Amino acid sequence: MIKSKKLFICQSCGSVYSRWIGKCEQCNQWNTIVEENISKPSGILSKSKGKEINFEKLNDVNYDYIRVKTKNNELDRVIGGGFVPGSVTLIGGEPGIGKSTLLLQLVGNLSNQKEKCIYVSGEESLSQIKMRADRIGVKNVEIEFASITNASDIAITINSKKKRCVLVIDSIQTMYLTQLDSSPGTVSQVRACAHELILAAKKTSTILILVGHLTKDGAIAGPKVLEHMVDTVLYFEGDNNFQYRILRSVKNRFGANNEIGVFEMHENGLKEIVNPSAMFLADRQKNISGSAIFAGLEGTRPILVEIQALVTQSTLSTPRRVIVGWDISRLAMLCAVLEARCKIHLSNMDIFLNIAGGIRLSEPAADLAVAAALISSVRDIPLSFTSIFFGEIGLSGEIRKVNQPELRIKEASKLGFNKINLPTKQKIIINENMSYNNLSILSDLVELIDKDNTD
Ligand SMILES: Nc1ncnc2c1ncn2[C@@H]1O[C@H](COP(=O)(O)OP(=O)(O)O)[C@@H](O)[C@H]1O
Ligand SMILES: [Mg+2]
Ligand SMILES: [Zn+2]
Repeated sequence: MIKSKKLFICQSCGSVYSRWIGKCEQCNQWNTIVEENISKPSGILSKSKGKEINFEKLNDVNYDYIRVKTKNNELDRVIGGGFVPGSVTLIGGEPGIGKSTLLLQLVGNLSNQKEKCIYVSGEESLSQIKMRADRIGVKNVEIEFASITNASDIAITINSKKKRCVLVIDSIQTMYLTQLDSSPGTVSQVRACAHELILAAKKTSTILILVGHLTKDGAIAGPKVLEHMVDTVLYFEGDNNFQYRILRSVKNRFGANNEIGVFEMHENGLKEIVNPSAMFLADRQKNISGSAIFAGLEGTRPILVEIQALVTQSTLSTPRRVIVGWDISRLAMLCAVLEARCKIHLSNMDIFLNIAGGIRLSEPAADLAVAAALISSVRDIPLSFTSIFFGEIGLSGEIRKVNQPELRIKEASKLGFNKINLPTKQKIIINENMSYNNLSILSDLVELIDKDNTD
């Protein structure tokens, strides 16, 4: 008989509690704790009792390390140049963001390259999948589809096919093992199903791709509870108000972290965006104060984004700080430095800061561009239309070096920017058509903006 006991598990991060509480102490999410019956998983592959093992010498180990390219450049870059056979990839994202669309296109591509592809959907019927495939033009008849939710059946099927394949599970939260009492989507089911499928994939060198829904209400276990079990974790992000979607790698055993791929959602599927900077800057207006271009870096990829600031006299006792796409405490710090070191008074001003296009920046290198946008708005002086900024700002107002300045400058040059504002002593490859302003302290920036900025 299977022993089972009741435990309370956070569906967002997987923390275990002995009693119910309203807010998870680990991840601070509300109402994510759910009572689960925990029984010992006894799936097909984890049934065996202990036995002696044989060790092997690394010299005797061979690997099948030819990456399987997807022929989708954005996706290939994010996963580090193609899928590694036997690797497990988790794609997380909110419902409706486009995970199923992306993966259907992916199996379409791979199947055209004679990879054996299996697409298992626990959410949609075969006719729904067919409708999507027709809409986005995935025609390959070789892809095998199934609309099932029993993880052991899938694992057994994969094991029985001795040859490697590409297996998509859409989504892991709909899968279940009959041996467990808890319902599909709970932490214990999600983990046990993933475990079963991963074992089967590793054994057969199958490229396993798991879809994980991200929900804010904690109704189902989030992809976070699986992150440590898989090789690669990708998040598919985007804003419903915009057509573009960003695929970001947050963990990758076979490539760089934080690499991004940019796509655009159309009626006929996801299109790669070859030049995201051009897209983010498409709606920029000339001669507007408070707008500065930041030459940022996402993973190994340079991206130019527009930072917009609006600073106005406040009528409130606590002035407003409204910020989209950047860190609010970073802004508070920057305002304090501007106030203390440059005598730019912001404490009685409302500040609105927006990263245009809906992208989220996390690099400290954006400090200089944000400061430039703020000063430009306070002074009501538009910045030069062809200038870019990057540099981190310290508490004493010093402008610090950032990594990979060459990459940032090259991207700027490609898009016609020719005035580079960067930290002093930042090593650069001088391009004759460009002018460089090396700034060492924040007051240098104020001085620069106060000078004539016309192009
Ligand atoms: N007929 C359509 N025309 C244009 N876009 C569509 C159409 N049908 C669906 N979409 C887009 O596809 C998205 C759903 O993609 P899907 O791959 O099912 O998401 P997920 O699997 O992440 O839940 C919708 O949010 C919408 O943007
Ligand atoms: Mg889907
Ligand atoms: Zn939690």
